Amino acid sequence: MVEFALPRNSRIVPGKTFGASRDATEIRKFKIYRYNPDSGSNPSLDTFEVDVGSCGPMVLDAMIKIKNELDPTLTFRRSCREGVCGSCALNIDGTNTLACTKPISDIKGDVKIYPLPHMSVIKDLVCDLNQAYAQYQNIRPFLWTETPAPNRERLQSREDRERLDGLWECILCFCCQTSCPSYWWNGDRYMGPAVLLQAYRWIADSRDEHTWFRLDRLDDSFRLFRCHTIMNCTNTCPKGLNPGKAIAEIKKSLVKRL
Ligand code: SF4
Ligand code: SF4
Ligand code: FES
Repeated sequence: MVEFALPRNSRIVPGKTFGASRDATEIRKFKIYRYNPDSGSNPSLDTFEVDVGSCGPMVLDAMIKIKNELDPTLTFRRSCREGVCGSCALNIDGTNTLACTKPISDIKGDVKIYPLPHMSVIKDLVCDLNQAYAQYQNIRPFLWTETPAPNRERLQSREDRERLDGLWECILCFCCQTSCPSYWWNGDRYMGPAVLLQAYRWIADSRDEHTWFRLDRLDDSFRLFRCHTIMNCTNTCPKGLNPGKAIAEIKKSLVKRL
């Protein structure tokens, strides 16, 4: 029988422990993935004791407190702290979600924080999103028209506008993309749920004039049809969107035009 083993330097080893200050009133332990490619060392899981009694309620609040008070080298992305920019997406307590909208109180026991799964890690909690953004660029994510622009805006009926609900709200956090087993195995050729939801956002837009071209480009056994309707994507989306349904709508659009 063939046996597979992980490369030795991919194993996560126990890391350092950073204790809370003596006047802490309510301590929670945060176990956080650390990786520094320059050190040549294996990734580790550091433990931080955080006084959540003197901290905001969300996981991101605790991470900022850790960075400010315990270890300034902890590296992660964040910007809006309002669930709008998508940059703080992480694997928290076993689920891909946004650190800024995940309440610490929702988590039982130690709070475990890892980068988004199955992506190359640049440092600590920052993963490499270049491929995902290249795929996003590939679907031409903009209103693409040929007819001359009217004097004011391109109008849409109320019904046509409503077709975009559940699509425009996507913040490109890639929680869904990195929870999809098909994307884990074929991320170089399969577009993935976040990118396909965005593709459908433009296919569904009554003002766009390149629907056929967009559908043609997706009509491929890997780009689109690697989706096997496992629905991890929909289960994990922190904005409550349904990328699995958007993918099904693209497939239906392809069938309808036959
Ligand atoms: S429904 Fe499709 S895109 Fe979503 S997790 Fe499953 S295979 Fe991936
Ligand atoms: S569909 Fe949801 S999980 Fe996927 S990128 Fe958009 S907001 Fe994030
Ligand atoms: S910091 Fe912007 S979504 Fe969390």
